[in-house]
Amino acid sequence: MTAAMTSLAPSLRKDVVLECRVCGFEEPTRFVTRCPRCAGATDVLYDLSRATVRDDPNPLIRWFDLLPFADAEQLYWMGDGDTPLVHARELGARAGLTQLYLKDETANPSRSAKDRMASVAVSFLAQRGVREFVVSSTGNSSTSMGLSVSRVPEITLHIFCGADFLDRVNVPDTRNVSVYCTDTDFVGAAKAAARFAADNGLPFEGGFFNPGRREGLKLAYLEAFDQLAPREPDVVVQAISSGMGVYGAYKGVMEYRAMGRLRGLPRIVCAQQQRCAPMYRAFHDDAETIRPEHIEKKPRGVAKAILRGDPTDSYPFMRSVVLDTAGTFEAVSDDEIHAAQHQARELEGLDMCLSSSVALASTLKLARTGWIRPDEVVLVNITGADRPPVPPTNITRVTS
Ligand SMILES: Cc1ncc(COP(=O)(O)O)c(C=O)c1O
Ligand SMILES: [Zn+2]
Repeated sequence: MTAAMTSLAPSLRKDVVLECRVCGFEEPTRFVTRCPRCAGATDVLYDLSRATVRDDPNPLIRWFDLLPFADAEQLYWMGDGDTPLVHARELGARAGLTQLYLKDETANPSRSAKDRMASVAVSFLAQRGVREFVVSSTGNSSTSMGLSVSRVPEITLHIFCGADFLDRVNVPDTRNVSVYCTDTDFVGAAKAAARFAADNGLPFEGGFFNPGRREGLKLAYLEAFDQLAPREPDVVVQAISSGMGVYGAYKGVMEYRAMGRLRGLPRIVCAQQQRCAPMYRAFHDDAETIRPEHIEKKPRGVAKAILRGDPTDSYPFMRSVVLDTAGTFEAVSDDEIHAAQHQARELEGLDMCLSSSVALASTLKLARTGWIRPDEVVLVNITGADRPPVPPTNITRVTS
């Protein structure tokens, strides 16, 4: 694991304004998630007419102009990025796809794309004056945030998780990172985290609604677009929980188009497991919002990282991304998920988790049905691999 590094390019500076997508409210300095005026989602918009991609091994510098940083002096890179883009020839041949590309995000320090999220989100929070915050997740985000913060002694992190996800949180035992385990599922843990944050006057970092997270996840795509060039993806596929990674992909596409680094608009596919597929069901019911019948009250499924039964808050964003790009939502069975994982291992030597396998299985299914045509350039984000299930040692139990 690479130690957190401060930037070597401290002269970079720019104005960074958090802007509400609904009412246009602007927040220049504080950390907010939802708009304080109308509760809309906030985004950071950049001056794309002047933006460049720098030749620097640190992705936070490389894409500084497309990241929510005011300066390069306070950046906490945890060594993520520069992951392989694999042209999966064998697997593609079996699926009838000549140009199947797998972005191998399992090569990140903690084996998931969430390391990119943590590097950007922790730097973003620090630059907005946050010194202590609360997070909850199904394991990968919390692990990445925990690893990142464990190397930044001036920041304190409180991680909440449900009991079923405890062995997926793999963080070092350090003074400034605490783990709280609730006797609830993942959604219950998020509620306990929000309560703890409110009781202690701390920011709850916001998950999907933290623009720092989405901007970090965007980098896997910008890097993949650069690796693919001069080809461009016709289709982009990712497994979704809240969809923040896919939102990042969409924003990255739009920014690269404005900068002239991409010309086309890939169809974006959001992939779910059939046993927990609320967004897939809502989309195919032509629903603009998640309705009660779409919610999975007790989410179960083999792809643990994406077991979100109630994506009410982020679904409208994902729906508009899919509609804007003529993409789709797909859902796959446990058998299809396991088969995709097996094929990736046997044919490409790739070790991926069952959530990543949901993306691959959905791709194979869309190729079978003809939705993806044989010669299209397909980019699948292999978002993570399993870590050894080692629960953290220092845990506070929280009862609901
Ligand atoms: C391996 C993996 N894939 C995909 C996702 C989907 O995340 P999201 O839709 O919130 O970007 C996650 C989220 O935890 C993950 O850990
Ligand atoms: Zn607003």
